[in-house]
Amino acid sequence: DRVLVLAGGLSPEHEVSVHSGRSVAEALRRLGVEVQVADVGSGLLDRLSQDPPQVVFPVLHGSAGEDGTIREVLELVGAPYVGARPGACRLAYSKPAAKALLAERGVRVPRGAVLPKSAFHDLGAPALVERLVGRLGLPLFVKPDRGGSAFGATPVTSAQDLSAALVSCFAYSDSALVEEQVQGTELAVGVLDTGEGPVALPPVEIVPDGGVYDYAARYTAGRTEFFCPARLEAEAVTAATDAALTAHRVLGLRDFSRTDVIVGADGRVTFLEANVAPGLTETSTFPMAASAAGLDFAVVCRELAHQALL
Ligand code: DAL
Ligand code: MG
Repeated sequence: DRVLVLAGGLSPEHEVSVHSGRSVAEALRRLGVEVQVADVGSGLLDRLSQDPPQVVFPVLHGSAGEDGTIREVLELVGAPYVGARPGACRLAYSKPAAKALLAERGVRVPRGAVLPKSAFHDLGAPALVERLVGRLGLPLFVKPDRGGSAFGATPVTSAQDLSAALVSCFAYSDSALVEEQVQGTELAVGVLDTGEGPVALPPVEIVPDGGVYDYAARYTAGRTEFFCPARLEAEAVTAATDAALTAHRVLGLRDFSRTDVIVGADGRVTFLEANVAPGLTETSTFPMAASAAGLDFAVVCRELAHQALL
């Protein structure tokens, strides 16, 4: 097989994607698969048409890599690829859209408000802060409506910190999602479908050193403690895997995904978001979960690549 891994990209998550792409490429090469790695750019279309790979494995995080745009290009040139189709990517990548769909299916989601950048200017920061805190209370979580790796995402415990959090969020997106901060245990739940339907991997419990799962906590080895299996009651684990499977199906995802949830002290699960291009770096939870399930990550990658050809 000749597999083209797409990694890098133009989003703030470029570096993360380079690491994820390297993991996938090295894993496949270990199995003797011929792999090339390319970044996206003006030469991509030429490359795809002049030297078509058998399969493309997009390992691009953020913006065009995750919102469906790059996969539209792959559709255009008829290149088989691993992962969700463009429409499903568009849905999943928009946190508010994904939340609305999941809520419709009875999955609990955080209360929140979507705020365009213009609201900041139209209303002014003090009025905006007063309204948001009045409606959603404290603590809050501010994050770009579309994004990843915690770029522009800030937990907010006091009203006076809210406007700074919004400013840093608007550096990454024209639209902010301001949510109630759900208390509980954060779980990342991988879903894998290698041909027999989507199956949930064992949830990974995430315990960041400083309590906040920010960029450094995600990608610096030792900065976060991971527990797989999660230290939770069986019922809570089942509820979390059910939510991840529901997200995978409702959003129309394909091959693999990772859904992030919070399990409250009462065992109830709140959906945060679903990722069509979950991190596959050395510190990422999807490969951890696969290995906890007794799966060889390399074999999983090869099966996904093979499946794209069917
Ligand atoms: N956006 C990062 C890569 C993740 O979800 O793992
Ligand atoms: Mg994400």
